[in-house]
Amino acid sequence: MSIPLLVKDLVKVYSVKGKNTKALDGLSLTCSRPMILSLLGRNGSGKTTFVKIATGQLLADSGKLEIFGHNVIESPGEVRNMISLVPQECRPWGHLTPREHIYHYQRILGNTREGSKDRTQYVADMLNLGSIMDTEAVNLSGGQRQLIIVGMALSAEAEIYFLDEPTIGLDIITRKNVWNAINHYKKMNRTIILTTHYLDEAAALSDEIAVVSRGKLVAQGTLAQLREKVEYNTRIKTTKGLIGDSLKGHGRLLQDEEYEILYTDDSMVEEIILSAGLLKSHVEISPIGLEDVFISLVGESIDED
Ligand SMILES: Nc1ncnc2c1ncn2[C@@H]1O[C@H](COP(=O)(O)OP(=O)(O)O)[C@@H](O)[C@H]1O
Ligand SMILES: [Mg+2]
Repeated sequence: MSIPLLVKDLVKVYSVKGKNTKALDGLSLTCSRPMILSLLGRNGSGKTTFVKIATGQLLADSGKLEIFGHNVIESPGEVRNMISLVPQECRPWGHLTPREHIYHYQRILGNTREGSKDRTQYVADMLNLGSIMDTEAVNLSGGQRQLIIVGMALSAEAEIYFLDEPTIGLDIITRKNVWNAINHYKKMNRTIILTTHYLDEAAALSDEIAVVSRGKLVAQGTLAQLREKVEYNTRIKTTKGLIGDSLKGHGRLLQDEEYEILYTDDSMVEEIILSAGLLKSHVEISPIGLEDVFISLVGESIDED
């Protein structure tokens, strides 16, 4: 049985006016079973370029990309019926309502009139679109317009959904409706490839997370597996000036205008608190979360930029 997604050594260079940008520099990823895989990476790390190649909108320069064993690089058309997409930066038509968008999209996909109507209602219920279903897009908010695009993509019966920042600009309650929909599709054994900058979203939804930097995979795994790749397992956060440079040797120190964060090992915590003369009430001690893992894994490039 072939696996949902296999990406190996994918390379893509954009050439614009003699300037070359290596957007993908040998990207490799795998979804070995139906799952929610989140792609995390800083702006410009190549996530959208990857999604465009996987969905047949852009040609790769080299490398391998297979969806259920079909070679997408050579024949992108073969997987057209298996995939659905929320593209980054896509706008609905101003004078059509959400109902019309989803209905006509279903008709384009080949569904019958009755089937399209049913499917439209199914998506409206799933995403809680009830009150806005018959309002023209021009009269909706930016977030509500984004929901139309998400609704269209989720209306398709696909095996793999590529969702490129689907929840951008949505309020937390609406985002959670989208999360429920994504989880619902996962329960139906579908694969969801999600890019997001909301780390709480990635942590809440993902079976696995792939961290991408400069067009390459830095690490892929469950959150627990990614945590193990990071040198320190504990964070100590205080207001600026309490830890200071004196404790640099005890871990990795990050400072900003207001706070200091020392990444360290849980076995060191007591000693650090004592030697810095800190009161426990002045510090926040917690196991590292996805944000810390992310910063640690792609942190070098932050420092360089
Ligand atoms: N159409 C394009 N022409 C030239 N360069 C591009 C184009 N699209 C993206 N890039 C460049 O490729 C890199 C990766 O971009 P992108 O895939 O959009 O990253 P991400 O989605 O992770 O933010 C960036 O450096 C970006 O400037
Ligand atoms: Mg992008």
